[in-house]
Amino acid sequence: MTRAPFQSFELEHYQSLYEHEVEFNLADSSVKCLGTREWLTPDEQAALLDTGLFYPQVNGTLDLRQRIAALYTDADAANVLVTVGASQANSMVCATLLQPGDEVVVMSPGYRQVWGHAKNIGCVVKELPLDPARGWRPDLDMLDRLVTSRTRLVAIVNPNNPTGTILSSEEGDRVIAACARVGAWLHVDEVYGGTEIDGFGETPSFWGRYDRLICTNSLSKAYGLSGLRIGWAITDRQTIEDLWRRHEYAVIAAAAPSMTLASIALQPAKRRFLLERQRNLSSAGRQVLASWLRDQGNVFSVLPSPATSLGFVRFDLPMTSFELAEAIRTKANVLVAPGSFLGAEQHLRITLGYEPEKVAKALDRIGAVAAEIRRA
Ligand SMILES: Cc1ncc(COP(=O)(O)O)c(C=O)c1O
Repeated sequence: MTRAPFQSFELEHYQSLYEHEVEFNLADSSVKCLGTREWLTPDEQAALLDTGLFYPQVNGTLDLRQRIAALYTDADAANVLVTVGASQANSMVCATLLQPGDEVVVMSPGYRQVWGHAKNIGCVVKELPLDPARGWRPDLDMLDRLVTSRTRLVAIVNPNNPTGTILSSEEGDRVIAACARVGAWLHVDEVYGGTEIDGFGETPSFWGRYDRLICTNSLSKAYGLSGLRIGWAITDRQTIEDLWRRHEYAVIAAAAPSMTLASIALQPAKRRFLLERQRNLSSAGRQVLASWLRDQGNVFSVLPSPATSLGFVRFDLPMTSFELAEAIRTKANVLVAPGSFLGAEQHLRITLGYEPEKVAKALDRIGAVAAEIRRA
């Protein structure tokens, strides 16, 4: 039987092949995630054990949707659909909005989920470049040229994976104006909101700035709870209904125990604790990266990044990012993400938000592999 051509999700596939096999997995994009006991009081553990294992509310428990809505101005539970991670929310966005032949604009480098989904639906995908020569800022004149009357969706990730780029309010206005000019939808994936470095406040959501808008988010990155697999979409009520109809086909509902834990994670004090823990891990990891880079001559370099726990490291070696990542995996037992899977050759994406000693050890091994390649 012949199958339709399919663009696989190269980054996620690479991780799923090796992330549980290597000694040091630095290809992830969360911080070191929590164990269930670590962050729950005895009462909260009891609430988890009391969770019934019947089908939960399909669009998300009311309590969780209310807690999510409370993170936004002028939103209520009817604006929210709880999903299996932001990845499912993003999939529902594509399944709901896109048809073959539509044009879609995505950021590059970027997390290539909407990019791949849109290709698989038969859309024409255009890339909005983030320019390394300007500290990974977007070329918004180019955006004006990319958006045409056939553009159905502009999809951005803010803060961006892998560059950490945070759009300024004026840049956001320009993105919205480009969408409004042709009536396109704007999807903003905000999973890295809350991962900003000191001196940058929490990135404001785009929620409320445009009428054809869907924001997605999850507990995976800023909260260090990727194993819960809880995310959400927030949009106008009618669009929530449309996403929900697709969600019923895709998964029926997110897992009940995960929704219980997600409600706990979003209690204000718990939320502050989780965000602070994540920021501390990321900041320690960034210092380890900075000190390692000082010993690497000109082989590795990074541009300043205001958010995420990621180092998007440029390398000067005569090979592709996939070849280098494979050399590092096979020789050093360390997994990193090749930049080509995020749309930028000559880069590796390295997660920094683990125990600093572990990051330091893994970086030293990467340095040793690079030194061996240079000698050869
Ligand atoms: C920008 C972006 N969106 C969504 C996801 C998926 O996250 P989740 O664990 O919430 O499904 C990721 C994971 O790397 C990501 O980087």
